[in-house]
Amino acid sequence: MVTSPDNAPSASPVQCLVVDDDPQVRDSLVRVIQEQGLACLATASADEALAYLSAHDGVAVLITDIRMPGTDGVALLSEVRRRHPDTAVIMVSAVADVQIAVECLKMGALDYIAKPMVIGEVQARVAKALEKRELTLQNRYYQQHLETEVRRQRARIEQLFLEGAQTLTHALEAKDAYTRGHSRRVREYAVRTAVMLGYTGDFLDNLGLGAELHDIGKIGTREAILNKPGGLTPEEFRHVAEHTVLGERILAPLAGDRPVVLHIARSHHERVDGDGFPDGLRGDGIPMEARIVCVVDAFDAMTTDRAYRDSLTAVNAFRELERCAGLQFDAAVVQAFTSAFPGPDHLPLHTSHPPMAGDPR
Ligand SMILES: [Fe+2]
Repeated sequence: MVTSPDNAPSASPVQCLVVDDDPQVRDSLVRVIQEQGLACLATASADEALAYLSAHDGVAVLITDIRMPGTDGVALLSEVRRRHPDTAVIMVSAVADVQIAVECLKMGALDYIAKPMVIGEVQARVAKALEKRELTLQNRYYQQHLETEVRRQRARIEQLFLEGAQTLTHALEAKDAYTRGHSRRVREYAVRTAVMLGYTGDFLDNLGLGAELHDIGKIGTREAILNKPGGLTPEEFRHVAEHTVLGERILAPLAGDRPVVLHIARSHHERVDGDGFPDGLRGDGIPMEARIVCVVDAFDAMTTDRAYRDSLTAVNAFRELERCAGLQFDAAVVQAFTSAFPGPDHLPLHTSHPPMAGDPR
């Protein structure tokens, strides 16, 4: 029978279970433990204790006498270790049994209390056992969850970095009336074009992000050259071209597991005829995500005023894309882009344009 000293049912989950065949010892132990604010019950035998543990989760500490009729404390310890390893066990031993108590420690008992028991000592041992058990459980939890937690933190850091990069891109564009909203429009155009080409899921998310950040490397381009009216000298051109490699380098440390984003930063100025930069890639050798951004980036540049020329109408920009399909641009991408926006009169998009149905973000 499971008892409390006055046989009153315990209101809170039982934290401690006392096992002793002597009712006086049993009741006084329960009282002492309850006085330290812990919910405590008792059983008169090892078998009753095992039955109770099997039926009730969460017993933190078991305090058992070593010598009991029937199953003794040592056998109980062994069973509890096997079946309820999260329950800490404290052995109660007569002076003559100290050697057995030491053996019990080797078997996994957390502590032992020698008779005659002193109230303060019992309470201190129980408190220490609870603390040790808590630490053991915490350690196990951290070991089991560390990997997940590290992954979660890494994803969070990556997210914060990418959000920072987006903010930076928008801030740079906002300084210049010619490029204001460029990256957001390129994102819209790119994602809609990819949907038309049949892409779905993560690819669209990363394409959208890469499209928005494609020119982040221009942080390193001298402003006088970026806004220079007229043509560039070969040296100036080389300087501007570096924004591709620099963009990839900026994004690589924290977007390394998003190759789509990095490919866009590096290769959005490659041409299918091999005359692009920085690597002179050709045709299918250029990642599809970069071929998509190349087309829509050119379209947005043509349809917005720049320091060095006025904008084209969307219809004329479409014609220009089609004229250069197979040379500068991937013909299938040009086809998908013009199909995705069958009413070019509504282009270019306004940057306050609400997200389109089917957009992944
Ligand atoms: Fe660019």
